[in-house]
Amino acid sequence: MENKSPKSGFSGSIGFVLAAAGSAVGLGNIWRFPYLAAKDGGGLFLVVYLLLVLTFGNTLLTTDIAVGRRTGKSSVKAYGDMKKGWGFLGYLTFFVPLLIMTYYAVIGGWVLKYIVAYITGQWEAAATDTYFTGFITQEAAPIIFMLVFLAVTVFVVYNGVEKGIERFSKFVMPALLVIVVGIVIYSLTLSHEGADGVTRTGLQGLKVYLIPDFTGMTAGKFLNVLLDAMSQLFFSLSVSMGIMITYGSYVKKEVNLNKSVAQIEVFDTGVAFLAGMMIIPSIFAFTGTSGAGAGPGLIFVSLPKVFAQMGPVAGTIIGLLFFVMVAFAALTSCVSVLETLVDNFMEIRGSKRQPTTLVLGVIYAIADIAICLGYNVLYGEWTLPNGGTAQLLDIADYISNSFLMPLVSLLSTILIGWIVTPKWVTDEIETGGVVFGRKKLYNIMIKFVCPIMMLILFLQSTGLLSLFIK
Ligand code: PFF
Repeated sequence: MENKSPKSGFSGSIGFVLAAAGSAVGLGNIWRFPYLAAKDGGGLFLVVYLLLVLTFGNTLLTTDIAVGRRTGKSSVKAYGDMKKGWGFLGYLTFFVPLLIMTYYAVIGGWVLKYIVAYITGQWEAAATDTYFTGFITQEAAPIIFMLVFLAVTVFVVYNGVEKGIERFSKFVMPALLVIVVGIVIYSLTLSHEGADGVTRTGLQGLKVYLIPDFTGMTAGKFLNVLLDAMSQLFFSLSVSMGIMITYGSYVKKEVNLNKSVAQIEVFDTGVAFLAGMMIIPSIFAFTGTSGAGAGPGLIFVSLPKVFAQMGPVAGTIIGLLFFVMVAFAALTSCVSVLETLVDNFMEIRGSKRQPTTLVLGVIYAIADIAICLGYNVLYGEWTLPNGGTAQLLDIADYISNSFLMPLVSLLSTILIGWIVTPKWVTDEIETGGVVFGRKKLYNIMIKFVCPIMMLILFLQSTGLLSLFIK
């Protein structure tokens, strides 16, 4: 079952890299990365994250993409093809995008709402405390915005890998990069006199972001920083959820995977780093804080306040550009999730792309409506195993990201490291005489370091770690 020629796929290396970077660059890069950096000691988090990208990130991304290309299949079939009896891992992996798709379009809809708010001149209203919750607790509006976002996603996937996803990513990803760099420059040149009479600049804020802060650091806190960085890395690179396996299955044999993996990592980490450079200095200039306390509300609650302080013109322009950029990032990610589902279903059922996409579009419209209603009609407060309080969206997010992803990673590193052996992957990377410079590191990571760290991460995110370490 090996070395199948790829199905219809990307036209070449650039299309693949931009589409994969499109999946990787998403809300995780824009709100989660800067907020974690602010919370976890600025430069300290940056250094830890970078080291993890070069080791874990590289290993996991290389593995997913190689599995996809070598089997020519999506996750459900790929693992079973690789080793008899391991088909269950394919199904387990498949559950991750299955769940993520239930809420990603809901968040995408929120982003569209803010685009409309800035276009219609509501820069002041968007900055009020109740704007965000006022919106998501409405019954109809969040559903309408979600449906628009979902419709665009369905349209792109409906048009296929090359004519839909690749073409879309080739336009959107460079545009996203230009907007991010533009806002970074603006943010670094800010200077603002606060109500306390102190003038704070964007460059001072940059120092807060870049300089490692070791105050109050203990071994326990450092472990937390490490685990934060690790779970961020997973989510950010879209690994262990079958997406990169699917995209890998569309890549031609001539493409140098080693180089592509490096380019995807640079793109993803670069945008995350720039997002921090765009957000933290502007929050600092206007509030004197790093934004660490803002948490997930950072982009929908704190940033609109910062935009409002820039004044009507600058605030509207920067606010609009910012949310357009976030929408681009979220769309290319959502496209990759839906594409993975469509391809898996096509393989399971032998169905065709267009009808499969439309049927899934309808099913997810219904599922996402339920998630939207989780903030009003179906509102409830549940407690997660790790102690957090959750609504429907948080539950889907928790099961997929905190429970399934580390588990899938753990099992797949055991499968590759110990059962089919790393050579299965490294041979695929070395196809056509490609030099795999980090082969030794790969072998050590996949056999020893990854399984141990994944186990710790799994125990931590399920709350089980606290049973062992008090
Ligand atoms: N990697 C994306 C991000 O960093 O936001 C998130 C993501 C994309 C998560 C696709 C899940 C997914 F299926």
